[in-house]
Amino acid sequence: MSNVVSYSREGEIGLITIANPPVNASSQAVRQGLLDALAQGVADSGAKALVILGDGRTFIAGADIKEFGKTPLDPPLGEVINQIETAPKTTIAAIHGTALGGGLEVALGCRFRVAVRSAKVGLPEVLLGILPGAGGTQRLPRVAGVDNALEMITTGRHVPAPEAFELGILDELSQETDVKAAGLAFANRVIAEGLASKPVRDRDEKLTQARADRSVFAEIRAKLEKSARGLFSPFRCVDAVEAALDAPDFVAGLKRERELFQECMDSPQRAGLIHSFFGEREVAKIPGIPKDLKGRTVAAAGVIGAGTMGGGIAMCFANAGIPVTVVETSQDALDRGLGKIRANYEISARRGRFTDAQVDERMGRITGSLDLADLKGADMIIEAVFESMEVKREVFGKLHAIAKPGAILASNTSYLNVDEIAATTGRPQDVLGMHFFSPANVMKLLEVVRGAQTSDETLRTALDIGKKLGKIGVVSGVCDGFIGNRMLKIYKTQMDYLLEDGALPWEVDAAMTAFGFPMGPYAVGDLAGLDIGYMNRRREDATRDPSERYVAIADTLYDRGRLGQKTGSGWYRYEDGNRKPIPDPEVEAIILAASEEKGITRRPIDADEILTRALCALVNEGARILEEGIAFRPVDIDMVWQFGYGFPRYEGGPMFWADRRGLDRVVADIERFAAKDPNSWSVAPLLKKLAAEGSTFKAWSAAQ
Ligand code: CAA
Repeated sequence: MSNVVSYSREGEIGLITIANPPVNASSQAVRQGLLDALAQGVADSGAKALVILGDGRTFIAGADIKEFGKTPLDPPLGEVINQIETAPKTTIAAIHGTALGGGLEVALGCRFRVAVRSAKVGLPEVLLGILPGAGGTQRLPRVAGVDNALEMITTGRHVPAPEAFELGILDELSQETDVKAAGLAFANRVIAEGLASKPVRDRDEKLTQARADRSVFAEIRAKLEKSARGLFSPFRCVDAVEAALDAPDFVAGLKRERELFQECMDSPQRAGLIHSFFGEREVAKIPGIPKDLKGRTVAAAGVIGAGTMGGGIAMCFANAGIPVTVVETSQDALDRGLGKIRANYEISARRGRFTDAQVDERMGRITGSLDLADLKGADMIIEAVFESMEVKREVFGKLHAIAKPGAILASNTSYLNVDEIAATTGRPQDVLGMHFFSPANVMKLLEVVRGAQTSDETLRTALDIGKKLGKIGVVSGVCDGFIGNRMLKIYKTQMDYLLEDGALPWEVDAAMTAFGFPMGPYAVGDLAGLDIGYMNRRREDATRDPSERYVAIADTLYDRGRLGQKTGSGWYRYEDGNRKPIPDPEVEAIILAASEEKGITRRPIDADEILTRALCALVNEGARILEEGIAFRPVDIDMVWQFGYGFPRYEGGPMFWADRRGLDRVVADIERFAAKDPNSWSVAPLLKKLAAEGSTFKAWSAAQ
């Protein structure tokens, strides 16, 4: 008997208990253990029914994702489920926590499913670039109906137990809170009342209904063309469910599912999505900080500034149930800021995301003030004022006198030196950067900027709070622009060079969206407003190397009042009330004139060159960031780019992309660019070294 699955008996019920922490993933040992325990239960003459349940916090939360991409080990999960389904004794899945992926598939192989009310079930494989490959696409439609199964399988949604009961996935919603008690009570009822049920594989009624009207397949494919653009597995999921209707029998349906599963497994997107799954969790682990270190409690927060960023940050706290005081310098600005927050909430309420009562509840957690002294009770204060060192130093100087001892003092700066800010406070150990991305209540990235003297406890608190606010926190060291904006600058500079050399903004944007970014850099610029970049460039005027190539096209747009969407024109033009960017001949003329003024003969630049230059620029700067210790690991950079800048999740992130392309190829590309433009390109030493060794960023990171 394996040590992760055990067999025991209580009265007439055999209990098959899985104990494979943390989430009871169905690893090889669990699969073998299930088969052995099943055989033992079948052989146990005292057991009239068998209950399968999970020990610890959950039922089986899915296949062991760490096994993906390796040689599959016997027994396959599908075989385990077939044996459960055809066992000569009644089998019952007793579910708590989550029954996900292979976990729900095991449950669907049982004759009955009972769950505690807090449980959730789902088939989230699509989020990992695959499809349910152990019968899920064949069995779920048989219990929940084809339309519901399609919705669940293509979104990967975790369905709460009461809804799963309504959908027919569960046979019983238990009143018990303890899963073992729930399983035993239901199993005893099955025996006492002689309840019987057909194996799911033999239930064809819902498939027959679906065969009568197959329009749902065309509808879902059309929907996915928009919502799953560029993705491979969602479409294979639909094909697999359709096979349940078309295959001559259940076994043939399983076979088709297996073929489609394998196609997904072999697709490069699967590897990228799984890198992203683990990456999201990896960034929370901070090298050098004791695992058991506890952060401080944040029961009340303060935000300085009620502008776009401050308002969005305040909303994050209010959404997480933490009261927050927002301080402004004038009543006017405060009223405007609070009004904007309410308006945002009301839009969400109109879209059905909140009730009116929830809007009031959230607004009730936000208190406006004109006096910094009102922040004296806050456990964490985030400054979101104008991006100027002078202004920030003044604010933090005052905060030192006001904030209570141990309060975390954070700046939402996106470029400035956190150490200089910390130096004004007399308590630099409590100071750090918490860089939210706009709109702060929506974007998931939080760059947590660790100053030279930031304490481990302060860092831990910021990361914990980030998680509570629903963010992915990534730690960055201090440098101009931190991880994300520092790389963005290099990439955008290269794109601006391409404009002068021969490309047009819509060509650059098209190349980047074809790769999978939701928007290209110029459409993003119009959304954010071209005034921000303009101000930044003026800030840099004094220190810019005069020999550096400077592209003035964006300055010309600014001078002509083209500030982006808000003025109806920027890199593109916009029609009234419409955010769709339209290529504009005036912009083209400005660009052609800029090339001519510098005596540049424009050349054709194709999408491949645009993309290669963009990605190589990111990777090269990423390598420098790693070398300098600004990011701990390549995966931190990948997550910054995914959650802050829309890097396609299935491509993993720039550093993962580079590893997959081969670092020698990346170096060869950069050397080719450098031969023509040595001022702006030189291969980062770490990248050069790893390429020469035939290594990868991932291997380098593992060896650190
Ligand atoms: N395989 C291996 N490890 C897993 C795992 C899995 N399926 N699910 C979670 N883990 C690991 C996490 O990496 C994490 O490890 P660390 O502590 O070392 O970082 C740990 O378990 C805890 O996970 P979370 O931090 O995510 O814990 P949570 O409580 O926030 O969430 C969860 C729990 C909802 C189960 C979430 O982990 C999750 O969504 N997991 C993935 C579920 C999934 O996709 N299942 C389908 C797998 S594919 C499949 O089953 C294919 C098939 O058809 C056979």
